[in-house]
Amino acid sequence: MKNEPGRLLITGGSGFLGARLVELALAQGWDVVATCHSRRPQTPGVRWETLDLRNAAATRRLVEQVTPDVVIHTAYRQEGPDMMAIIGEGSAAVAQGAFAVQARLIHLSSDVVFDGERIGRYTETDEPQPVTTYGAAKALSERLVAAAHPGALIVRTSLIYGGPDRPGRHERFVLDVLDGRAEAVFFTDELRCPIEVGDLAAALLELATIDRSGIVHVAGSDVVSRYEFACLVARAFGRDPSGLCGGLSPAAPRRPRNCALDSQVAQRMLTTRLRGVREVLG
Ligand SMILES: NC(=O)c1ccc[n+]([C@@H]2O[C@H](COP(=O)([O-])OP(=O)(O)OC[C@H]3O[C@@H](n4cnc5c(N)ncnc54)[C@H](OP(=O)(O)O)[C@@H]3O)[C@@H](O)[C@H]2O)c1
Repeated sequence: MKNEPGRLLITGGSGFLGARLVELALAQGWDVVATCHSRRPQTPGVRWETLDLRNAAATRRLVEQVTPDVVIHTAYRQEGPDMMAIIGEGSAAVAQGAFAVQARLIHLSSDVVFDGERIGRYTETDEPQPVTTYGAAKALSERLVAAAHPGALIVRTSLIYGGPDRPGRHERFVLDVLDGRAEAVFFTDELRCPIEVGDLAAALLELATIDRSGIVHVAGSDVVSRYEFACLVARAFGRDPSGLCGGLSPAAPRRPRNCALDSQVAQRMLTTRLRGVREVLG
């Protein structure tokens, strides 16, 4: 069943994915309410609300007060002492609020909930086995969200990039290395399915109108190593990738190596094409 655009609450509207979601949702006619934390965007046509996911009661209250039809929860922190509270309890509070007002909920999760030891792509039926603290926080958030809101859709995605017109942090890092502002070995054995931010935002907005719960993988169709991704980024920005250094990932601290996601279930549901990074940046 497809639902019409109504009121959409986007948490993390000031973030990389959130900003693109805000833009596309407005263009599609959604009544957009978006949250920010440390910076307040001035996007016209949007009601901006300040949110601190560390305050679970206030988070739940905000969701209930907005009374959205759909919530897309992107806000998070990947590091820092509050990461577990923000990703775990914070996401649970968003889910409780959404459930209380019977809003559809799409919760953003990550490919790093897996340990990366699989041969081939991970499907939605594979069990999370995180090996990093961030991966553990995201895996916890998946469990808390599903418990608080059984109708929630949990979307696992991969590296998000934007191309030369809208570079994200992964691309800016490659440029920093090329310009000598940072040093890095780009791992040849760490595999991901990067997705263009506009493709992901469009897919999420499509999923917002479809009654579907559980877990779904939404990532780009190409599996590339971190090194190949960095080379594609360099070329897309008109730079020579020969200055980039490729190598194997270290044994410690442990990192998930192959986090390739199988997104066939999502692709069958969607008209948005989940393009591979070689097509987008190549
Ligand atoms: N980026 C990737 O490559 C990638 C890969 C896999 C999965 N994901 C998932 O995709 C989602 C979006 O990622 P992104 O790269 O777009 O994130 P991002 O650009 O880092 O944005 C994070 C957002 O969270 C907000 N935020 C930070 N701390 C907060 C707090 N205490 N309370 C409320 N909001 C807070 C930020 O607000 P301010 O900026 O206003 O402080 C910002 O709007 C995340 O859930 C992430 O796990 C991302």
